[in-house]
Amino acid sequence: MSRNIKAVIPAAGLGTRFLPATKAMPKEMLPVVDKPAIQYVVEEATAAGIDDILIIIGRNKHNLANHFDSVPELEDNLRNKGDQGRLARVQESTELADIHYVRQGEPRGLGHAVLRARAHVGDSSFAVMLGDDLIDERDPLLETMIAEHEKRAAIVIALMEVDPDHIHLYGAAAVEPTDTPDVVRITGLVEKPAVEDAPSNLAVIGRYLLSPAVFDILERTEPGKGGEIQLTDALQELAADPEGPGVYGVVFRGRRYDTGDRVDYIKAIMQLAVDREDLGPELRPWLKEFAADL
Ligand code: UTP
Repeated sequence: MSRNIKAVIPAAGLGTRFLPATKAMPKEMLPVVDKPAIQYVVEEATAAGIDDILIIIGRNKHNLANHFDSVPELEDNLRNKGDQGRLARVQESTELADIHYVRQGEPRGLGHAVLRARAHVGDSSFAVMLGDDLIDERDPLLETMIAEHEKRAAIVIALMEVDPDHIHLYGAAAVEPTDTPDVVRITGLVEKPAVEDAPSNLAVIGRYLLSPAVFDILERTEPGKGGEIQLTDALQELAADPEGPGVYGVVFRGRRYDTGDRVDYIKAIMQLAVDREDLGPELRPWLKEFAADL
C-alpha cells in the first residue's frame, strides 16, 4: 500500500540537551537499543504506507545520510562470513523508502525547518514526524491520523495527556469534544506555557498531518518562544480561523518515547530492550536485581 502523502522528518535541531554526544552527530542518530532513533520513525512512516520521505538535515548531515545508504564493503564482509542475519539488518535501512534530504542552513526553529519542505511536498498533504519522538509500533497512531485527515479534510495533530507539571515542555491545546472518542477539535494552541496559563494538559507530540496551506502561514510567522519560528504558532493561526477547515487532535494513549530528553531516552532503551526476544530474557532478571538494590 502506497499513499499520496509524503513524510517530512525534521532532524536539524542542535540537540543541546544531549551535548557533548550531539556535538558532531544529530540527536536523531543516537542508538535506541541497536538502531538510530530516526530509523524507527522512517519505519513508522512506511508501516503507514508512506514511502516518500524528506529528512531536514542540519550541519551534521553526513552520518545521518550515510545510514540510509548501502555500504558495499561492510555488506561484502558479512556476506563472505555467511552472516546473513547481520547482513539483513544492515540492508534494512537502505531498502525502507525513497529518502530525500534538504538542508536547513540555520536552526531557526521547527516551523522554519518544515518550511524547507515546501518544494518537495508541493500540493499534497504531508506528515511531519519528529525524528526524536518514537511511537511504539504496537500502538498505531499515524494510520488513525491519516484516516481523520481524509475524513475531515483538516489538519490533524497528535496530542497526549501529560502531567500538568510537564506541560511547560510542550505545545498545549485548548479543545472541544467531537462525536468521535479521542478526537477533539482544537480551538487554540500555546507553545510551552507556564502551568497556570496552559489551556489543558493535552500536549502536542511529534506527529502532524498537514496541508500545504501551512507553508503560506509559516512564511510570515515571526519568531516566537525561544526566538524560534514555531510550528505551533502557525497552527494556532489555522485553529483560530473560523473560515478554515479547522485543526483536529487525535489523543494518543499508547507508548511514546521522547529520545531528545536524557531520562526518557534511557527509559526508552530499557522499555524496548526488555520486550525484545534476543535481549529481554537476559536483561529482565538483571534489571529486577538491580532495581531491588536501589
Ligand atoms: P527540539 O526543540 O526538540 O530540538 O525540536 P533541539 O532544539 O535540537 O533540542 P534541544 O532542546 O537543543 O536539545 C524538535 C524537533 O525539531 C527539529 C529537531 O531536530 C527535533 O526533531 N528542529 C528543531 C529542526 O529540524 N530545526 C530547528 O531549527 C529546530
